[in-house]
Amino acid sequence: MPVLQNISQLATCPPGKTQQDAGLVRNAALAWNGEEITWTGPHQDLPDQFRSEPVTDCGGRLVVPGLVDCHTHLCFGGWRGDEFEMRLRGASYLEIARSGGGISSTVAATRGASMGSLERRARSHLDAMLRLGITTVECKSGYGLDLENELKQLEVYRRLASQHCMTLVPTFLGAHVVPREFEQDRAAYVRLLCDELIPIVARRQLARFCDIFVEQGAFTLSEARLILESARENGLGIKIHADQLADGSGAKLAAELGAVSAEHLEYVSKEGIQSLSEADVVAVSLPLASLYLRERYMPARQLLAAGTAVAVATDFNPGSAPSFHLPLAMTLACLNQGMSPAEALMGATTVAAKAVGLQTTTGSLLPGYQADFALIDAPDLNHWLYHFRDNACIGVVKKGNWAHRSAAA
Ligand code: NIG
Ligand code: FE
Repeated sequence: MPVLQNISQLATCPPGKTQQDAGLVRNAALAWNGEEITWTGPHQDLPDQFRSEPVTDCGGRLVVPGLVDCHTHLCFGGWRGDEFEMRLRGASYLEIARSGGGISSTVAATRGASMGSLERRARSHLDAMLRLGITTVECKSGYGLDLENELKQLEVYRRLASQHCMTLVPTFLGAHVVPREFEQDRAAYVRLLCDELIPIVARRQLARFCDIFVEQGAFTLSEARLILESARENGLGIKIHADQLADGSGAKLAAELGAVSAEHLEYVSKEGIQSLSEADVVAVSLPLASLYLRERYMPARQLLAAGTAVAVATDFNPGSAPSFHLPLAMTLACLNQGMSPAEALMGATTVAAKAVGLQTTTGSLLPGYQADFALIDAPDLNHWLYHFRDNACIGVVKKGNWAHRSAAA
């Protein structure tokens, strides 16, 4: 039963409490057995039975739960660095999309890529994410937009889930945009999603959730209702990209349909906020997308004040958020959304775990939870998130085993 001691600050991130309470413990110790946490608390209270166990000295550092990135578009072909420059010159995300760039250009690159090359790229991203302290990743399809290529992306996730130590939570996003070949007959694409793709994905257990992009240029509310009702009938959980570029009542739809989470919400209305809180939908904030699109940020303080849990995730994708740096997203949530470091950490651990349906096993460092945690070369949480630097994470334990350990650990 290995024990970590000399932890200057331990964040246990208990579920169900207020998001402000990250369960911080000074001078702590942590014990685990196999894949499970067996004990956490102040070192002075460590029970005798653990005192003779093999010990790792943390050298007075911070330990946090393995981070959960609950919103990524992990598998894609190509990049879109040219759009970065176009946006800097003043083009908007929607203008670029209308002129043939944006999601459609990644769809073309993803359709043209082999499963092997997509898998190699996604694996290298996962390797780098792990070194940042991330141990669970939600990953969406949505750059295939036909049966063959949506299944190709989901198959990449299935393979990686069996080969990589990272926990992956796959989400079907066939309703990302209407593909070019259906532009003249949107209803036919909606039927294809409802009658073929969703049932096949669900039957083959290739995804746990179904997501949809509800926005001008993507899907309407009434299309979303049809698609998500089909998802629900087929046993998939529901997520919605809502109110990102304008208030389109996506939040209200998420509440009405019992979605587990609503993502983006930069333009969510007061009524939208109220309905999310009443329906206990997690609001997933994606501050890197706001940063890169130079758009407004989700009003996290208003959501928290209304009693809604706010997760923080990267939205990693080749267009609006080309970074998988979740700790940077947490720092941005503090600086631009008024979240405290504790709220940002909760948002990337226990709240994020709730957004992917894993809150009973993942995201907290309490007895019985999975032994997923990160050793951070900082004396405490405030220091980690304000002194932003690379290589701050010097060790990661995933399901009880060291998955990353730098010389400093
Ligand atoms: O979450 N909003 C829609 N989808 C992604 C962007 C995907 C892309 O630009 O390729 C997002 O921001
Ligand atoms: Fe997204």
